[in-house]
Amino acid sequence: MHLHRFRILVIDPISNNTLEGIREMDEVEEVHYDKYLDESSILELLPNYEVLVLRSGYTITHEWLEKAINLKCVIRAGVGTDNIPQQLLQEMRIKFYNIPHATTTSVAEYVVGSILIQLRNLIPAHLSIQKGEWKKAEFIGNELSGKSIGLIGYGRIGQEIDRLLSPFNVNVLYYSRTKKRNVAHARYGTLEEIAKKCEVISVQVPLTRETYNLLDENFFSSIKNPVTLINVARYNVINMKYLKKALINGKVRSCLIDPFERGYDISPYDELPIYFLPHLGGNTFEAQDRIGEEIKSIIRELTYK
Ligand code: 3PG
Repeated sequence: MHLHRFRILVIDPISNNTLEGIREMDEVEEVHYDKYLDESSILELLPNYEVLVLRSGYTITHEWLEKAINLKCVIRAGVGTDNIPQQLLQEMRIKFYNIPHATTTSVAEYVVGSILIQLRNLIPAHLSIQKGEWKKAEFIGNELSGKSIGLIGYGRIGQEIDRLLSPFNVNVLYYSRTKKRNVAHARYGTLEEIAKKCEVISVQVPLTRETYNLLDENFFSSIKNPVTLINVARYNVINMKYLKKALINGKVRSCLIDPFERGYDISPYDELPIYFLPHLGGNTFEAQDRIGEEIKSIIRELTYK
């Protein structure tokens, strides 16, 4: 039997195991792995490849697809599809796969860790020590136990955060755009109710037209208790103008934005208790290796279908 062997272009970081695993496949002729390429280099490379693997570092455009004359398949090595023009791919008969399950544990653990480090002021305390200060009294923190937690987004990740939080003796309110679920330990709440009642809020929704600016002026003005906020969704799910106001007036006491986007200016937040991270939620060896296994089975499926 003649085996078709694929040429694969990978433009976002993947784990070494993933890279080696794909390179060793009989079904693969070549893997070109180059992360952090500029747009024009990508356009130059695209015509030569049949499979494109990417994460959230780039948005596929019409121009990319015009160049990608041999492209048969796009693999989003992760969950979010806001950077993928799925309809266009379908029209061009280019197959598309994302990998929705592999990172759930990593993201949920990251949220729980982010809540705890913020409640105990670990990041600003470290930054203060680096400046030669000793401000023990100023960095008095809060316990998680007994707090009300708002989970905005209650799909795979939201439910796993809820499960991990259960030994902490917290009250969980969840908001889900899709449906109310029948869960014993968490209660459905509107966004306004979550803003009014919760001391800790975590956001894990996909970015869509409906979730763009989901946390808006009304949300921030409804906050009653100073909130510790975590965004592991996408940058634009929160309206940064009103978040900034809420950081200044103390409605948000601390905020961690995981999906920071390259090129955004963070200087307006310099003196505020907000921490930007380079989108680390799903960035563990374990999750990335699971993604690698799924990429391999997608390539196998493409070969033998
Ligand atoms: C996802 O959508 O899978 C997560 O936000 C992680 O994105 P990443 O693959 O770019 O790290």
